[in-house]
Amino acid sequence: MTRTALVTGGAGFIGCAISEGLAERFDRIVVVDNLHPQVHKERVRPAALAKKVELVVGDVTDRSVWDSVLADFAPDVVIHLAAETGTGQSLTESTRHGHVNVVGTTVMLDALSHSGNLPKKIVLTSSRAVYGEGPWAAPGSKETVYPGQRSNEQLAASQWDFPGLAPKPMDGRVTRPSPVSVYAATKLAQEHILTSWAIPYGVKSTVLRLQNVYGPGQSLSNPYTGIVSLFCRLAREGKSIPIYEDGLMLRDFVLIDDVASAILAAVDCEAPTPLPMDVGVGVASTIAEVAAKIARNYGAPAPHVCAKYRFGDVRHASCTIEGTVAVLDWQPVNDVDAGLSKLQAWIETQLEPVRQDA
Ligand SMILES: NC(=O)c1ccc[n+]([C@@H]2O[C@H](COP(=O)([O-])OP(=O)(O)OC[C@H]3O[C@@H](n4cnc5c(N)ncnc54)[C@H](O)[C@@H]3O)[C@@H](O)[C@H]2O)c1
Repeated sequence: MTRTALVTGGAGFIGCAISEGLAERFDRIVVVDNLHPQVHKERVRPAALAKKVELVVGDVTDRSVWDSVLADFAPDVVIHLAAETGTGQSLTESTRHGHVNVVGTTVMLDALSHSGNLPKKIVLTSSRAVYGEGPWAAPGSKETVYPGQRSNEQLAASQWDFPGLAPKPMDGRVTRPSPVSVYAATKLAQEHILTSWAIPYGVKSTVLRLQNVYGPGQSLSNPYTGIVSLFCRLAREGKSIPIYEDGLMLRDFVLIDDVASAILAAVDCEAPTPLPMDVGVGVASTIAEVAAKIARNYGAPAPHVCAKYRFGDVRHASCTIEGTVAVLDWQPVNDVDAGLSKLQAWIETQLEPVRQDA
């Protein structure tokens, strides 16, 4: 029997990275992707997409695209990646984010249920953004506190942390989501819509909450995503990297290779996956540490704290991956040093050499 996978947004950073793994597992792979101009400068099929992939250029919010795709393909597994992904941008483009992320998901689910061919499984790449500022606790206290969103006054006064509290790692099994950006709210809505739809239809749903993904293949021209690529580009040009707030924000930077292996493990997984699973390295670094490493690697001037801030950015984001490792046959294998060296090697294949006299 022909086994088919359908990937929405599969021509993007993560979609390309899983495409060879899917090609090994499935007879047919169809990608539905509108080649969004913010992600795809040239709006052509990406070279990194596995040859076996059949690319349908279309929008997930367009029901006629779905009806025509599902007339040709009966997917066994759907991997839902298509999304508007700009955290900061979602504040000024909230309709776009709501439409693609929320309505795009409901249009997909309606089309699947009306097609008469339900997939066995749908994997959604959600985001650590759904946790917002996440859980905190007073030193020595076991009581978890959710301090909510940092106010304008707090940020304007450079009061970056919540006084008297220390951040705790996020954990999909127990942490209460509490979005602080429109993007995050739409990602949480996707999770809720998918799980409430999937149970009545007997479709298995898997929600992966990805931490900060970086690595080869990430758009070098999209100004709204990919802080690690942006830092590399600046340092490569000999510029000092500007660091927001005081630079001490924690992030779990996870290499695309480890994210791809987690998604493929979720595709393979036969165990039930009722709870969202965190995908990171399980080790957090400060933005300042990572910026300093990148500056050193390129021989660029030291990064500088510019004390700017951006609404929608959370102070700290770290996670435990214990729950994920217990369910999926998966372990991340790249630390930040290994990941940066892979990213930097790839960037040299993509960008013109920097002119020394520039
Ligand atoms: N990269 C990260 O750090 C990260 C972190 C957490 C979650 N995620 C999630 O992972 C998923 C994939 O992210 P990515 O990093 O590959 O992003 P990306 O922007 O590289 O890829 C997204 C793809 O979706 C396509 N797309 C956008 N709108 C579409 C629409 N209306 N119809 C059809 N296709 C559309 C784009 O053309 C692009 O190819 C997203 O759902 C994102 O929310 C990513």
